[in-house]
Amino acid sequence: MKILGIESSCDETAAAIVENGSTLLAQSVASSMDLHAAFGGVVPEIAARSHIEFITPVIKKVFAESGCNWGDIDGIAVTYGAGLSGSLLVGVLTARTLAIIKNKPLYAINHVEGHVYANFLVNPQPTFPLLSLIVSGGHSQLVYFRNHFDYDLLGQTMDDAIGEAFDKVAKIIGLPYPGGPSVAKAALDGNPHAFTFPIAKLDSPYNFSFSGLKTAVLRAAQAAVGSDYRLPSFELPGRLSAAQKKDLAASFQYTAIKTVVDKTLKAFNELQPASVVIAGGVAANQELRTQLSAAIPIAINYAPIDLCTDNGAMIATLGCIKAMHYAETADPYTLAIAPNLKM
Ligand code: KG4
Ligand code: ZN
Repeated sequence: MKILGIESSCDETAAAIVENGSTLLAQSVASSMDLHAAFGGVVPEIAARSHIEFITPVIKKVFAESGCNWGDIDGIAVTYGAGLSGSLLVGVLTARTLAIIKNKPLYAINHVEGHVYANFLVNPQPTFPLLSLIVSGGHSQLVYFRNHFDYDLLGQTMDDAIGEAFDKVAKIIGLPYPGGPSVAKAALDGNPHAFTFPIAKLDSPYNFSFSGLKTAVLRAAQAAVGSDYRLPSFELPGRLSAAQKKDLAASFQYTAIKTVVDKTLKAFNELQPASVVIAGGVAANQELRTQLSAAIPIAINYAPIDLCTDNGAMIATLGCIKAMHYAETADPYTLAIAPNLKM
């Protein structure tokens, strides 16, 4: 069973071919990230235009690299939500068109669910019941999977996603876009205990909140520059020393990661899953891997970094699982995008 996966929900245009839901034959990712850097965030129109430019080349590349031809492909899986409308449209229309002209089944994939399946490309594969911490630019969720497509949402963020908090903190203290990797890099040389930041206490044991933490970083940065306590935040970066930036980054990262690790441990103790996985762009964060492995008493097999951020391999993997076990769930060639799709 070989599935072509297509992903275009945000600023990465990606394709991959995966065999049997476990073997990555080839993948290609083109990013328009550099074009957004000047604006400090993804510009939807620029992202959509870039997808149009990159979508055919990334698909051609995975065929060339895998040595597959269309006769080898059993179906096409595509992200249909959640994401930016213009971006999703490019992937879905491409997948629909290819499915029609090549006469292949089409499988619509939920982007966030897809992130979890990057872990099924790791050997040994995770087993059910599976506790999944999903941490990306748009989502922070704890999900308990009894089996494929049979899951409960245990909790989620009440405000910002954790990746969004990394990106906003990077802006506050003046680190380059994209914020997650640059906060992580600055934190390497900082003291995680230089500042004590709060962890929000919420009614539900598995929900998260990051907006208070973000504001606490802003206030600490303002206090750190001294007399101009009320200066506007856009003046802050130039007044913070390199050492202050590193300490703020390290202290923020430590607290943000501790927030999600504490809740994951609580869910682990209560539900005793067979496996624990992390998924989404923030799963690339080394501090998360370190804190989580120290907290959870079973071994965690982490996916390689390039499978944590947006990619086509995770979409093709979930597409394979659908095609192998739930072929009847193939979608009509009229498949529409779902920008606000939930788990
Ligand atoms: O999953 P993803 O590529 O796109 C979404 O579906 O949102 O996640 C992107 C998010 C961004 O907020 C980015 O700053 C964050 O993941 N990120 C990181 C790291 N690498 C990417 N956050 C913390 N540490 C990292 N190493
Ligand atoms: Zn994503």
